[in-house]
Amino acid sequence: MRYYAPYMEWAKTRRHATYDLAGSNMLVCSIEEIPGARAAITLAGENENGYRPLLDAIAAHYNVTPSQVTTANGTSGANFLTYAALLEPGDDVLVERPGYDPLMGAARLLGARTVRFDRAWEDRFRLDPDRVRAAMTPRTRLIVITRPHNPTGVSADNATLEEVGRIAERAGAHVLVDEVYLDASAAVAPLAATRSDVFISTSSLTKSYGLSSLRCGWTVSSEDVAFRIRRARDVVDGTGSVVAERLSVLAFEHLDRLLARAHGILEANRPLVRDFLRSHPELEWAESTGTVVFPRVRGVVDASRFVERLLGDRDTAIVPGRFFEAPAHFRLGLSGDTESLRTGLQLIGEALDQKDW
Ligand SMILES: Cc1ncc(COP(=O)(O)O)c(C=O)c1O
Repeated sequence: MRYYAPYMEWAKTRRHATYDLAGSNMLVCSIEEIPGARAAITLAGENENGYRPLLDAIAAHYNVTPSQVTTANGTSGANFLTYAALLEPGDDVLVERPGYDPLMGAARLLGARTVRFDRAWEDRFRLDPDRVRAAMTPRTRLIVITRPHNPTGVSADNATLEEVGRIAERAGAHVLVDEVYLDASAAVAPLAATRSDVFISTSSLTKSYGLSSLRCGWTVSSEDVAFRIRRARDVVDGTGSVVAERLSVLAFEHLDRLLARAHGILEANRPLVRDFLRSHPELEWAESTGTVVFPRVRGVVDASRFVERLLGDRDTAIVPGRFFEAPAHFRLGLSGDTESLRTGLQLIGEALDQKDW
């Protein structure tokens, strides 16, 4: 069996823990947090080329036109549709390392080649346009960035992003910026796709709003690219679910409140993680503006055994860095339940102190 995304396979089949700090989604909302949601459910509605009220809501959120927006099954679907719309077999896609593995798996599925550029630990995972430039090939059609970066939470500033945009433009390529972590991020920035037609931004209601179950994802791009993405969707899954799309429109009506909820959770959780990291000299990390942080355990080549012992002995889950091609690290989620995070951090600290892994 050919695995396209080993991290995703692990994430879906792993044993869950009482103190689960492995996820990166915003703490899930209850249905009561979207007023009117129960009454809104209907099975009728036209969504052949995207559900119009939802396209309008997303467009209004970013101050773009609805023809620049397409909807998709989560950011995952939005990323895949973008690849499918822009790539031919044999094309090259540049993907950051460490990276989120569906971004490599999608290229493999489509017969494209993945070329890597590093976000180096020595640079504290900074996006470095020189490394992007050095990785460009004559067949590069797409450069892919996550902002903030998964797995490290490190953001890219606008000037850096624009430089990467110019590299792509000169090569006749595009830049896909997966911005699923952006809205809840501590670094406020306009969506990349609002800067220039070279960018395609993808996002969803998952990481910043606690509504992963709606699978409400989208792309924002030039009208031309949006048209191509819609035509890719004709092949991949046709349309979305009207049931979920109606609920997503309601969610957009309450987006400010949902975002305030998310910021409240992060304001409570960030200091806990900061204090934990500062009190453990065996850990080093890069400053995160996202909903995850990616500490490195000093003197360790592969932290997998530590992660396994933590789960087995202390019922606490984090993600081993090997899934992001950085095995000395582990990924810790900041956007879950505050009390679970507090206890989980204490248990990670005890496990680190024990030094028997
Ligand atoms: C960079 C990145 N993009 C997309 C996703 C998936 O998001 P969605 O639930 O919107 O499909 C994740 C989830 O971990 C992610 O880390």
